[in-house]
Parts: sequence; structure tokens; C-alpha cells
Amino acid sequence: MTVTETALTERHLEEMRQIAARYPQPRSALLPMLHLVQSVEGRVTPAGIEACADVLQISAAEVSGVATFYTMYKRKPVGKHHVGVCTTALCAILGGDEVLATLQRHLGVGNDETTADGAITLEHIECNAACDYAPVMMVNWEFFDNVTPASAVEVVEALRAGEPITSTRGAEITSWREAERVLAGFPDGRADAGPTAGEASLLGLRIARERGWQAPPVGGGSQPEEPAEVAEVNAEAATGPAEPDSTRREAAEESTEDARAGDGAARPADRPEGGGER
Ligand code: FES
Repeated sequence: MTVTETALTERHLEEMRQIAARYPQPRSALLPMLHLVQSVEGRVTPAGIEACADVLQISAAEVSGVATFYTMYKRKPVGKHHVGVCTTALCAILGGDEVLATLQRHLGVGNDETTADGAITLEHIECNAACDYAPVMMVNWEFFDNVTPASAVEVVEALRAGEPITSTRGAEITSWREAERVLAGFPDGRADAGPTAGEASLLGLRIARERGWQAPPVGGGSQPEEPAEVAEVNAEAATGPAEPDSTRREAAEESTEDARAGDGAARPADRPEGGGER
């Protein structure tokens, strides 16, 4: 097939061949090759699909099937920066929905639309596996943690003004196309910028170490002895918190007294005075 109407050059085709040569099965290179197409064309174009198909000796339909399956591949032109707001359950209830709505109003765009100045493409995205920092936003696939509507607006305004801005846990933000080139397998030397992991991600590990908890052995074998704290947590999960006999007896007596009080209607301990009907 002939590649026409494209910014892809022979240099890029050679880079596609380099990517394909990294894999025992060349077609395994399709995902990074599509990122390379996006880094050059700003989206997955028909010409980019044809180029991938030619290099990998597969059909354009096979390439298109992959490009239309994964949401990181864009069929419409992306602006200079791609801003993704997570609206999956945890981020949504912690403010992600409001962050997205605020950005839509502020930028005057709907979902998956680009601002008139071409600076920002805004999209709601699914869980980024960064729930411990919810709500999160991504700029060119770099994290911005614990965002608020106000901080999200500050970020997009800095991007529009061309001001330097750094991801919460990564490098200084470049452009979406530059980030796509890194995803294609051409590092920019900034992979180690920023912290490798934050406190929220490490908290569970720290607690486990403090308490001597261990993961069970991989692939079977004998299980390590269950630490006392783990046994206690598991038992509570199964039966509810353990209470001393005296505590249970006092609770039963209080319940009986409640039942006798007033007109005799028992009031659950956690219901507010006079409560229930609001
Ligand atoms: S729900 Fe948003 S990162 Fe998981």
C-alpha cells in the first residue's frame, strides 16, 4: 500500500522496523508502533495504519482492530496536551466528577474534545490504578494526585500559558506527542524523574513490615505460620469484632433498659435522639 497524506517519513518507517526487531514475533510490536504513529501524526491516521501493516506484513484491518480497541489510541487529533480525569468509582466519589465538570466548564469543551486554541484535549478516563491518590488526573499520561477543581484549573492554565509544570510523581510535563514517543520505546532520559513511590502507596508495605506480615509462598508449599495480628483481623472479618463477655453483657443490659424507656420503643444506639424521620 502507498502511504500518502502523512507526516511519516522514511526515518519513522525505519524506527518502526527497529521496534519490530525487538520482539520474537514482530506483530507484538504493534502497540508501541501505534504510539510512534501518534507521536508523529497526533492520532492514529489511516496512513499510520497502513504503515504499521506494511512493516508487520499484516492486514490494515488487523491493525485497525487493535487501534480501535484500546482507548490510548486516538482517532481524532489530540491537542498539545491530553488531560484525562479519572471518573471511575473511587475518584468519582472523592471529587473526580466535579473536577471533570469544572474543567469542561472552564475550557468550554465536552468529553474527548479539544479547546479552540489546540492546547488541551479533555477526556474522562477509567481507573489509573492510582486510587490511593484519588482523585487523580493525568497530563500526557503523567499523574497529578489528589486534585481539586481549583488545582486542576491551575494545571490546565499553566499548560496553556506554556509555564513549566511537574507531575506529582514524575517528570516535568512536555507534550502529548513527546510522551507518545517515549511509549513507543524511545526514552527521553527522564524515566527516573520524581519519586518512585509515594507514602500512600507504601503505607501497606510499611505496616506489614512493622507487624512481620509476609505474603504466602508462590506456587504452593507450606504456608507460613499466621501472625497473631493477621489471625485477629481475619477472625473479626468473619464474625465481627471480638468483645469481652463483660462488654457484651453491658450492651445487652443497656438495650433492655432502652426498650423499657419512654413508650417502650427500643432506640438503636447509633440513631440520633428523636431521629430517623427527616
Ligand atoms: S478510581 Fe481513579 S485511579 Fe482508581
